[in-house]
Amino acid sequence: KIVPVVLCGGSGTRLWPRSRKTNPKPFLPLVGERTLFAATVARCSKDAGFADPIVVAGGAHVPLVESQLPDPDAATIIVEPEGKNTAAAIALAAATLPADAIMLVCPSDHHIGDWKAFQAAAHAAAALAADDWLVSFGITPTAPETGFGYLKHGPEIPGTGGYRVDRFVEKPDLERAQAFLASGDYSWNGGIFAFRAGAFMDELSRHRPDIADAVRAAVAAGKADGHRFHPDPAIFATIAGESVDYAVMEKTDRAAMVPVAMDWSDIGNWQALHEALPCDDAGNSVKGSVELKNCSNVLAQTDGPRISVVGVENLIIVVDGDEVLVTTPAGAQLVGKLHGAANQ
Ligand code: GDD
Ligand code: MG
Repeated sequence: KIVPVVLCGGSGTRLWPRSRKTNPKPFLPLVGERTLFAATVARCSKDAGFADPIVVAGGAHVPLVESQLPDPDAATIIVEPEGKNTAAAIALAAATLPADAIMLVCPSDHHIGDWKAFQAAAHAAAALAADDWLVSFGITPTAPETGFGYLKHGPEIPGTGGYRVDRFVEKPDLERAQAFLASGDYSWNGGIFAFRAGAFMDELSRHRPDIADAVRAAVAAGKADGHRFHPDPAIFATIAGESVDYAVMEKTDRAAMVPVAMDWSDIGNWQALHEALPCDDAGNSVKGSVELKNCSNVLAQTDGPRISVVGVENLIIVVDGDEVLVTTPAGAQLVGKLHGAANQ
């Protein structure tokens, strides 16, 4: 069985005003009825060969996590005293699992349309992870995004459907991202990883022994409280905040990837959400009380006052409580920089 390790961090300021510090992106029903977090857990179902999940989350979000889990008592919740980025968050789960457990690290804030393709890729990745590969999900790139990691395909690993990764480049600048896209030799890193717990800790010890040792010590001195586990806060506070991409994936020579087409989006901003939502023939998507006339490519959402829009194209309008956001597809990238989003 594959152990889902669901990461809940970050504040998702680029989806302000719907995403707020107290109720951030993973816990919102942005696509469909389920929240992104609830969908992440549901995708890793028992039927599909997954074990009960481990959720790694900050203390402030534990009540949201527990209210959105179908069976909170069956899950393990690792409560981070503070956010130390993904290397430490993943290591917390790895250090509490038996060395031979196969973990599937899942960000809690992505949309995946094709669950069957996700589950098939998870099993292919798990088989590689059992042979001590550190496995990424590879997504076919469609734009020179600079917010993603890029995986250079190496030779196929015979009989597995996976490939060696010759090079892992986290968040390249635009020029390199354009060159990677043009070469056809790269996939995006989907941010979903399969590891054997012991193999992950070995590689972390090799490349970032400081993080590995401190996490092991914080777990050893930690306290269980029902299904919650609290790593030691004083030891955890000493850990360097680094992402798994820089700390391990760029450095390891055991990187592999499984290519997967699963209608994936990281819903990084309002424009990306618009693309993931069902639209009418003119490309409009509405939620709540909205009237559109002669509009195209408009995203309009409200939880209160009616929005009426006439004769515009390429616009994003979001009403949430006492906040109103108006932007364009290009402006959507910059929403996190607004005063309102930063100081919510
Ligand atoms: N528990 C916990 N604690 N979770 C965290 C923390 C933390 O300190 N920091 C981040 N996370 C969670 C986020 O909530 C998200 O679900 C996931 O870990 C990835 O973190 P992001 O901060 O969203 O990373 P990113 O989007 O910049 O980059 C990663 O994902 C891309 C794909 O979306 C990288 O893996 C890239 O290489 C990848 O392309
Ligand atoms: Mg992300």
